[in-house]
Amino acid sequence: MEATVRLDTAYNAGQIDPRIFSGFLEHIGRSIYGGVYDPGNDLSDEDGMRLDVIEAMRGLNMPYVRYPGGNFVSNYDWRDGVGSERKPFPDFAWRATEPNTFGTDEFMKWCRKVGTEPMMAVNLGTLGPTEAAGLVEYCNLDTETHYAQQRRKNASQSPYDVKLWCLGNEMDGPWQAGHISAEQYALKARNAARLMRGMDPSIELVAAGSSGRHMPTYLEWDRTVLETCWDDIDFISAHRYSNNKENDTPGFLAEGVVIDNILNDYAGLLAYVKGLKKSSHDVYVSFDEWNVWYRERDGKNRDGGWQVGPVQVEEVYNLEDALVCAQYLNAFIRRADIVKMTCLAQIVNVIAAVLTGPDGTLKQSIYYPSALYAVAAKGLSLTPVVSAPLYDASDRERVPYVDASASYDEETGELAVFLVNRSVDEQVRVRIELDDRDVIRSGKVQTVTGDDPKLSNTWSNPNAVAPQDGHSSVDGRALVVELPALGMAVATGVETEPRT
Ligand code: AHR
Repeated sequence: MEATVRLDTAYNAGQIDPRIFSGFLEHIGRSIYGGVYDPGNDLSDEDGMRLDVIEAMRGLNMPYVRYPGGNFVSNYDWRDGVGSERKPFPDFAWRATEPNTFGTDEFMKWCRKVGTEPMMAVNLGTLGPTEAAGLVEYCNLDTETHYAQQRRKNASQSPYDVKLWCLGNEMDGPWQAGHISAEQYALKARNAARLMRGMDPSIELVAAGSSGRHMPTYLEWDRTVLETCWDDIDFISAHRYSNNKENDTPGFLAEGVVIDNILNDYAGLLAYVKGLKKSSHDVYVSFDEWNVWYRERDGKNRDGGWQVGPVQVEEVYNLEDALVCAQYLNAFIRRADIVKMTCLAQIVNVIAAVLTGPDGTLKQSIYYPSALYAVAAKGLSLTPVVSAPLYDASDRERVPYVDASASYDEETGELAVFLVNRSVDEQVRVRIELDDRDVIRSGKVQTVTGDDPKLSNTWSNPNAVAPQDGHSSVDGRALVVELPALGMAVATGVETEPRT
């Protein structure tokens, strides 16, 4: 099969925000206890942090990690997780015992070791603006006031300078502790935003948008929140977990179409509210939970049996899931104009890129799209015009076999191209042409592929789904990439020069 991707550096969606390659770490299952934090394990350092996990995280190059939830945050009192007296409590969201031995200070320390920045979520379920502002004081102020003094005494003389804050989590969901109506949440979030920004005017704030497109209040919830909070927030959150419950690989591989639709929905809504308010302020999308999740989702996964660090929600990922993750990233890059922050949910053990065993870590298939894209996507997001054969993708109708995004670094003149082949059995020869520049060197291509969509990495075969060197060449003025069936390709370091 053959396909063409046409690009022009003048036709772009603006700068790609590196924060779109961030992750999410929640207190749930073995994410913290037995995951990032495992005191007594030979692989852990003097602070109880697993060094192999830190190493694996570094490979993801995540600029931010969102913490501590998720559903967990909506009944969490951060004050129980700092200082010398830690109070264990029963976690309402996942029915586990939270010992509180890992809290805000440990997370900050972990972020430093990994080389990432914290994105903190505050509890707007069972707590409110006062406690949220207290956490901003604890983290960011250098004052002679109670919580700032507590931080100095507990852990750190200098403030943590946390820049990104989520105003609660999925407050539209009846499952959420302290769930309230959109109107009530919007007022609570606005009050919290004002108090928090009163503590530190430099912070950026994310209001909780819809927890998914399946929600009956989808967009209506977001509209209410945006209309009330517009001037007080910087982002509205969106979440999605994709599934292949029907076991229909071609249909599942068309998932990028739905992600595009969601982003279009938000683009329209943001433009509408901005127009309504006659505002010069912009609010962007923080897609702070996205992944594939359906196999380990219900029943026992919701119930940790009041254990500390129970085995819960440990989804095993395969090749087709990785190809869907790559399509999330393509969609985010294409909509660089409105998407400035996203988090792969999650990163350790629970619906995670990395699994831990007593003796080491296993990188799941979904690790690789994020790892490859985060280093390669730099600069402007070029808007691709894809000409590829179409196929019938169940209720997603006629979908092109090739999904693409591209970035262009204005400083170096280098191009990077990100491709997914939705065909299960046919490779595609993709010709990438720039209208205003010539490709002069093909750079490097890495692919992730296999002959079975259900192929997974296992402890005995840890590299079944992993990057391999691919093939590309320069043909005239264009780049040609051999895109394998059931595969993705990342072409980087593609040198270009102005067309003469
Ligand atoms: O990531 C797992 C859960 O999914 C989060 O706690 C919640 O926000 C979402 O429903």
